Amino acid sequence: MRTLIKNGTVLNADATTRADVLVDGETIAMLGTDLEVAADRRIDAADKWVIPGAIDVHTHMELPFGGTFAKDTFETGTRAAAFGGTTTIIDFAVQPRGGSLRQGLDAWMEKAEGNACIDYGFHMIVSDVRDDVLSEMDTLVEEGVTTFKLFTAYPGVFLSDDGAIFRALQQSTRNGGLIMMHAENGLAIDVVANQNATTGNTDPYFHGTSRSPIMEAEATNRVIRLAEVAGAPVYIVHLSSRHALNEVRRARDEGLPAFAETCPQYLFLSLDDLGNGFEGSKFVCSPPLRPADHQEDLWLGLVKDDLQVVSTDHCPFDFHGQKELGRGDFRKIPNGLPGVEDRVDLLHHGGPAAGRMTPNRWVEVISAAPARMFGLPQKGAVAVGLDADLVIYDPNRRRTISAKTHHMDVDYSCYEGLEVTGGADVVLSRGKIIVDGDEWLGERGDGRFLRRQRSGAFLR
Ligand code: URP
Ligand code: ZN
Ligand code: ZN
Repeated sequence: MRTLIKNGTVLNADATTRADVLVDGETIAMLGTDLEVAADRRIDAADKWVIPGAIDVHTHMELPFGGTFAKDTFETGTRAAAFGGTTTIIDFAVQPRGGSLRQGLDAWMEKAEGNACIDYGFHMIVSDVRDDVLSEMDTLVEEGVTTFKLFTAYPGVFLSDDGAIFRALQQSTRNGGLIMMHAENGLAIDVVANQNATTGNTDPYFHGTSRSPIMEAEATNRVIRLAEVAGAPVYIVHLSSRHALNEVRRARDEGLPAFAETCPQYLFLSLDDLGNGFEGSKFVCSPPLRPADHQEDLWLGLVKDDLQVVSTDHCPFDFHGQKELGRGDFRKIPNGLPGVEDRVDLLHHGGPAAGRMTPNRWVEVISAAPARMFGLPQKGAVAVGLDADLVIYDPNRRRTISAKTHHMDVDYSCYEGLEVTGGADVVLSRGKIIVDGDEWLGERGDGRFLRRQRSGAFLR
């Protein structure tokens, strides 16, 4: 099947070109002005942008958390992602405590295989650092699972102590993997959370006030310094606050290979959303939403490359029946927000459409940097020879975000009623049209597991 995309503006992270795009089978075969070649179908992209399919490097489909499971399956979550212009996700497989990495990876492979509608890779959550687990990390890197998430948060569940984190960082210098850190001081946070809960401060709002941004900054600096001594790069996930950003910036100014992502919720939502009684549970995630004055600092961090990536941390729980597990005690509210469908549009709306960043920088943070940093050289650009993961994007379209119309399997939206500018018209995954306007043309099982390369390309 050959598809010719005519009259569009090709938007890459490093260039904007008026060019036609020929897709042959699963790859981009030709780029050129006024291409007139035989094709089985033509798409008119006049007044539209042709961008590389977006890549979300932080999702949690079916994650067990707080006695329940993140609601989206690999089928529903990846279909929703595609409607929003995302054609690749990297999800987190979880090592069971006391078990092996292999057990966790096998379990997540089983969830995804035959179900994912778009291509997917895995990071591995390391919840129990042992000698055998460190050796397993080497094997996984060879198998294309090249990135590992550890936590300074969630004591008793995922938290690793400094020694364990340091050992994992050292191992990554030997095997070329990359350590991703959830950086919050979970032990101190739990003290404050317990004090709040026992003095009657049980509303979701106190989830936010229990988790000081200073405790995020402290843990961010700590893991950066552990990485410095280990001689390893480090990537901070879901960075939420000015305080933590300052630590990343300081390290980068010193020349350290410290990297970080933020998420749309930290750019658009705030601590105020956690108020309003139990409705606030819809906005409970960790790190928590911060006072609104952090948002502009994060936008600036993205523009200045102190933050390299925007991912979603998509981890949806229904308000009814799931978030409600924490009625009367915010500590029992499952942590996480839905977002995989809305990232591209939100970032366009608050980024280029609002004049905060160039369209090219937008492509960089939603697609090109994720591809480069997470070992996916076949993705992240509109270029000859690469996978034909393409989005015909209308920068002028307007739509109102709502749980009534979204495709994520969750009963609310954090952005209910927000009108955004920009939207994906047509989405191709390896040459196949999977979204055409409101129509779903993809199939469960279309997505392939991606063996990722080491992240070395972006390190010095
Ligand atoms: O609240 C969050 N972020 N839930 C998902 C798990 C994690 O820490 O990423
Ligand atoms: Zn996390
Ligand atoms: Zn997460």
